Amino acid sequence: MSSELDMITVPILGKETVKVGFGLNEYVATEILKEFQSSTYIVITDSNIAPHHLEPFERTFRNTIKKNGAESRFLSYIIPPGESSKCRAMKAEIEDWMLSQSCTRDTLLIAMGGGVIGDLVGYVAATFMRGIRFVQMPTTLLAMVDSSIGGKTGIDAPLGKNLIGAFWQPLRVYVDLLVLHTLSPRQVINGLAEIIKTAAMWNEKDFQLLENNSSILMEEIHKPAVSGEYKYFKIKNLLQKIILSSIRTKCEVVTLDEREGGLRNLLNFGHSIGHAYEAILYPQILHGECVAIGMIKEVELARHLGVLKPNAVGRLAKCLVSYGLPVSVNDPKIKKYAGFKDCPVENLILTMAVDKKNQGSKKRVVILKAIGETYEKHATVVSDDDIRFVLSSDVKVGTFTEHSLDVVVTPPGSKSISNRALVLAALSQGTCRLTNMLHSDDTQFMMSALESLGAAKFSWEDNGETLVVEGSGGKMSPPKDALYLGNAGTAARFLTGVSALVPTKNNEHGVVLTGNHRMKVRPIGPLVDALRNNGCTVKYLEKEGSLPLSMSSESGLKGGVIELAATVSSQYVSSILMCAPYASEPVTLKLVGGKPISQLYIDMTIAMMASFGINVQKSSTEENTYHIPQANYQSPSNYEIESDASSATYPLAIAALTGTKCTIPNIGSSSLQGDSRFARDVLKPMGCLVEQTATSTTVQGPPKGKLKPLESVDMETMTDAFLTASVVAAVASNAEGDAITRITGIGNQRVKECNRIAAMVHELSKFGVRAGELEDGIYIFGKDYKTLNSPEGGVYTYDDHRVAMAFSLLAILAPSPTVVIDKACVEKTWPSWWDALRNSFRVSLHGSTIGNEQQGAVINKNASIILIGMRGAGKTTIGKIISKQLDMEFVDLDELLEDHLAMPITEVVFKLGWDAFRHEEHKLLREFIRERPHGFVAASGGGVIEMSESRKLLENYVKDGGIVLHVHRNLDHIVSYLSKDITRPAYKDQENIRDVYGRRHQWYRQCRSHYFISPVLDERVVEEKIESSMSRFLEVITGKTRSLQQLTEKNRSTFLTLNFPNVEQALPLLNEVSLGCDAIEIRVDHLKDPKAKNGVPTLDFVAEQVALLRCHTRLPIIFTVRTKKQGGLFPDDKESEALELVLSAIRYGINFVDVELGWSIESITKIYESKRNTKLLMSWHDVSGTWSWARPHEWMQKIELASSFADIIKLVGTAKTFNDNLELENFRNSVTRTMKIPLIAINMGSKGQLSRIFNKFLTPVTHPDLPSKAAPGQLSVKQLHEALALIGEIVPQKFYVFGKPISHSRSPVLHNTAYGLLGLPHTYQAYETNSVEEVESVLHSPDFGGANVTIPYKLPIMRYMDELSHEARFFGAVNTIIPTVKDGKLCLRGDNTDWRGIYDTFTAALDGMSLVGSSALVIGAGGTSRAAVYTLHHLGVSDIYLVNRTVTNSYAVQNVFPPEYNIKVLDADKVTPEEIKGVSIASAISTVPADIALPEGVDRLVKTLIATGDKQSIFLDMAYKPLHTPLMAVASEHGWRCSSGLEVLVRQGLASFQMWTGLNAPFIPVYKKVIE
Ligand SMILES: NC(=O)c1ccc[n+]([C@@H]2O[C@H](COP(=O)([O-])OP(=O)(O)OC[C@H]3O[C@@H](n4cnc5c(N)ncnc54)[C@H](O)[C@@H]3O)[C@@H](O)[C@H]2O)c1
Ligand SMILES: [Zn+2]
Repeated sequence: MSSELDMITVPILGKETVKVGFGLNEYVATEILKEFQSSTYIVITDSNIAPHHLEPFERTFRNTIKKNGAESRFLSYIIPPGESSKCRAMKAEIEDWMLSQSCTRDTLLIAMGGGVIGDLVGYVAATFMRGIRFVQMPTTLLAMVDSSIGGKTGIDAPLGKNLIGAFWQPLRVYVDLLVLHTLSPRQVINGLAEIIKTAAMWNEKDFQLLENNSSILMEEIHKPAVSGEYKYFKIKNLLQKIILSSIRTKCEVVTLDEREGGLRNLLNFGHSIGHAYEAILYPQILHGECVAIGMIKEVELARHLGVLKPNAVGRLAKCLVSYGLPVSVNDPKIKKYAGFKDCPVENLILTMAVDKKNQGSKKRVVILKAIGETYEKHATVVSDDDIRFVLSSDVKVGTFTEHSLDVVVTPPGSKSISNRALVLAALSQGTCRLTNMLHSDDTQFMMSALESLGAAKFSWEDNGETLVVEGSGGKMSPPKDALYLGNAGTAARFLTGVSALVPTKNNEHGVVLTGNHRMKVRPIGPLVDALRNNGCTVKYLEKEGSLPLSMSSESGLKGGVIELAATVSSQYVSSILMCAPYASEPVTLKLVGGKPISQLYIDMTIAMMASFGINVQKSSTEENTYHIPQANYQSPSNYEIESDASSATYPLAIAALTGTKCTIPNIGSSSLQGDSRFARDVLKPMGCLVEQTATSTTVQGPPKGKLKPLESVDMETMTDAFLTASVVAAVASNAEGDAITRITGIGNQRVKECNRIAAMVHELSKFGVRAGELEDGIYIFGKDYKTLNSPEGGVYTYDDHRVAMAFSLLAILAPSPTVVIDKACVEKTWPSWWDALRNSFRVSLHGSTIGNEQQGAVINKNASIILIGMRGAGKTTIGKIISKQLDMEFVDLDELLEDHLAMPITEVVFKLGWDAFRHEEHKLLREFIRERPHGFVAASGGGVIEMSESRKLLENYVKDGGIVLHVHRNLDHIVSYLSKDITRPAYKDQENIRDVYGRRHQWYRQCRSHYFISPVLDERVVEEKIESSMSRFLEVITGKTRSLQQLTEKNRSTFLTLNFPNVEQALPLLNEVSLGCDAIEIRVDHLKDPKAKNGVPTLDFVAEQVALLRCHTRLPIIFTVRTKKQGGLFPDDKESEALELVLSAIRYGINFVDVELGWSIESITKIYESKRNTKLLMSWHDVSGTWSWARPHEWMQKIELASSFADIIKLVGTAKTFNDNLELENFRNSVTRTMKIPLIAINMGSKGQLSRIFNKFLTPVTHPDLPSKAAPGQLSVKQLHEALALIGEIVPQKFYVFGKPISHSRSPVLHNTAYGLLGLPHTYQAYETNSVEEVESVLHSPDFGGANVTIPYKLPIMRYMDELSHEARFFGAVNTIIPTVKDGKLCLRGDNTDWRGIYDTFTAALDGMSLVGSSALVIGAGGTSRAAVYTLHHLGVSDIYLVNRTVTNSYAVQNVFPPEYNIKVLDADKVTPEEIKGVSIASAISTVPADIALPEGVDRLVKTLIATGDKQSIFLDMAYKPLHTPLMAVASEHGWRCSSGLEVLVRQGLASFQMWTGLNAPFIPVYKKVIE
């Protein structure tokens, strides 16, 4: 590899410092040794670079030293790679090492590496012994053109990047292109972003060079590096040219302004905003990638300010995209690397505020006025409001206030014409200059794809106003990568045709076309069918009938007769027409299947083909048939693209809506576009004045409010304009009030970017406008514009530019500013629409992010729940439980259908057949979703998912935030249950149930957002536990769970690891072993499923196991699949199976899932995207035991990676010595200071026990009764507490009960037992006293931990309290004192937990069941009855019956409570049967002594009422002498479940315990002890 390039020197700051060449080692060594003599030369580099480049350099350098006979030393020092090395610790490490090597002031440092090495080593040089000499040998492209030049050096601080540093110029910068050989493609492209930046702001010629050479550069960049063969050999000269021009610019600018006086700031183009993104997206997204996004935002800002032409934005975007750089945070690459990191606008603006360029509080941004030219010779001051607008995802559109306006608006070129012109010019031989081209996502995708196919080369002239297309005459070859087309429908359809012309040899993969998730549901079937019939092999890679697809054919299109169904989209027709001339035989295209849609677009294609030299003959004999000759396209040298007539409808409609005047200067009656008739055929009959010449159109609207409705208008020839017409119709009213406009002929709009008809109906309703769907159209009830509403949550735009623009028109009439969500979607056809709205129509616009906030609430709150699942799986049972727990109305869709058709389902199937039945079922489901989106829970028929349309409905429902819950239970159970049911029709063709499930199984999975499987124990569904399991499940899936918050609010928390092969074995121990824990981890890798394959359990087995666990514990569950590599049992090579398990766990509403950081970023992203309300615990185990906490770079990298996704981060190291724990503590302290995500960090091994004791958040624990520890060194909760007490972290405290007499109090036993069980050093004692004054000093003693208060001091104690809880105030009594510290002072809080004992007893008995809306009975009217009433109300009871021997006392109780308590006093003597008719008591509490008999009447009434309950009912007797009271006996007789007052006492005590210690209290062992 010898150098053929000349070495070129670029001067900077008047010195010949920068040398650019190829293979420079020898030159560098010679020059350094000659020019910069020193006793010690030190190369500092990183461990990625060293293996490739250090040794050759070192060898050359040492040889040269020897040759020169010098005495100098050569040393090298290698540091870990990555930004985390650019820190104080690393600087110190290098300095200490240099000192240890006795380096002195004459040392010369050589920074061999990327920007990290350059910045760090430069800064070391700047301060070592007050400054020593250094040279740069940049090894990344970014370092070559940017960081190594200019003398900025520095390091990062925890609070920000590059905040500490110095200007320190290197003596030399040796840019050796040879080293790029080993740099990864992503890193090379990262550097290219800076090169594009420099060119874009300084030199248009350089920019053009980059534009024109992207494909060749990209080809070489992506070529795999072969050792011994220089990767960039082919393009060495080009590469040097590009690098040199960038370096020259930087040197020139730095020379003019070394210390950033103003000019040098221009180099920061793209950085003001880019840095703000980087602050969030770093380190997953590289600097250059963030700058690429920043550049686009900054040119958008320039466009918004009216300084930059819209085309320039498109041009820059195109250039960046051609280098594979992202242009928005929504770019799939960003998602791929960074997952779904949020970039909240306000955070971005806040970050921008600390930019060094700013002038005080005013932000400065580099504003371009053209490509290659800035607006000012320094960064320009820009208002926050303008920045916010550009950064925001949504736009808040102000109200229109002008009275008269007469404006001329030129919309961008037509998308249809632009796309056709691009295809035709590409397929032509020769050069064609296109003007008024539309720059949009669509054309962007089209151009990139055509370039990738080798179909054409594009370049710009006239500052980007003219696009020069060099066509390849139809010669193309398959690109390596898939062609990604976003949601660009036209591009997808046209390119499917074009791709059919690409010959692919057998061994090639063909052309792959793909798009975003919306594109993946848009139809392309008829076109594919036609191509398949013509010899192309087309494979659907995901969903039948949609992209992505792969196309291959031996020799392109065959030709001859091609039949095509053209009733869905005319684009299919145009696609085939345009490629037909290049088929092997002349083509006759027959449009079959009925009248082709949008004939005008077909005519447009034919007319344009004529301009490019091909004349299509329409058959005179056969209908809808065309003959296309076999010939080559010849492009005209110039082609002007007409403005888009659909776009033109928006400004024209504004004139109509506001009574103003607007002219479109380049569309008139001679236009090829159907939508050019909109003004004449729609606006005119609605009352506008319309003037149209051959080439222009002017509309003058009637006075505001005077538009007339159109009884019926067929818009078949201008379907895209129907959205505009709809919003105009929305305010076209008349005096009679029947202002209805009917638009027909637009059925195709259901399959555009979204279902536009449905979208219009839905969004119009938000403005208070009634509208509905017609078979092929829409009807709208117009209303007075003054009565419009302003949509509260904004207008949703469905990623559809036309929806967005149409509603921006209605928004300007709304009474208050209206948000249009996702403003960028207009980019498809009119990227500068908002700027036009603001600048031409003077509408005020502001940024908004309301849309993101809505997305944040993943679940549409209170959204109706649709249950799917096999018949017999329990949909009705579960539906009813949900209905009760969530207070939703239950609907059985089968019953609804029977009502609707007035016959039983068996008969429907029998009479109409299965297909008709499914069809009716589908209709009903659609109606349900549309009409009952909130507050319902619906059980659907088991086979509803058999029909693909219904599946689609359900899938979309889920996408919109709805819940589709798949209900399932063990298949054997279903089979035995169903064999008994004869009321429902048998399965089609008498299929067996297992086969049916086998078939449907994947469909259920496809449609469900959630999954609930019934818990099974001893081969029996645990019916009685379903409700409790369900309640915890619902908490998670509806987003009501607070488990993470609760954990973070605690001082310390722990989780218990269950590593049984089957959860059943753990159940008997569960209560005991989870004492004091805050969560339970189920180790899925330890489960033994009898049906497991290759060590992977089945999804259903795991689901049943979780279900079982969930109904036996209230603790949140952590779901962990630990692989062997990370210390578990799950096979390492089964990542996709592990992923499936985790994803399904999310669907069954698990609280936490553990995700290993070692999994691929794709898997992690997938989990992140699907997580809904489940929290992610990202974990990393250093099983190698080699990582040290003292050298934290590796750990930091894991934290950085995890932070994109994690709700909790878990790092596990290994302790070999005691000291490893201390180092871990240092690490913990330093990172948790700035880290917002809770961290679990521990060391494995018995030597690591101390780290478990120190870890505060979710420490994994074990219990001595468990058969085996999950990990060596694991401690129990008790051991943790004992250890914490020993080291003084838990200080022994004294607790009391105050009162008299209290010698029999069981409280001391209760609390002391609990302390003992959990290893707490506290004591609890009875403090009997005659005067409340006596306790005051106790309250203020330093070891006072808390106290209970009983008779007679519940009231007098209040005077010592600093604050009172709501309950203490309500009951006018304090029974618990909780000392806290507020603002450094002791604060005594008085609470009343009398009701808590009742509450906890009830919730334990209810076990997840709900009392919402039920009736309850309270016996007695003393103090306790108040607590009873209060509790019952808080449990959701809606009617409370009160019975007492003295009725006046009952009324007294009733009067204490507000009316919504619904207390009904019953007088035993006067009660009439009417009064208690229909009452059904679900719970009762007796508050009267049990040893005194009730008066006869009361007794009778109580018994009558108890008899109205059922076996779900609950009875609580507050009396516990005797333990089994007479009333309990009565309740038991009726099957009620009974609880005793003793339990209430214990639970009340434990409530205090929990308040004082923050620990979940161990009920059962304490209860046993107390009743001993
Ligand atoms: N001082 C300035 O004016 C200035 C300007 C821009 C950026 N910066 C700083 O530069 C840093 C980014 O620089 P960077 O992008 O070069 O990152 P970097 O130094 O981290 O290098 C990127 C990666 O490529 C590896 N690498 C470098 N050269 C290689 C080669 N030839 N072959 C194989 N691998 C190689 C590195 O080990 C590293 O993993 C940031 O810290 C940024 O703040 C400074
Ligand atoms: Zn930069």
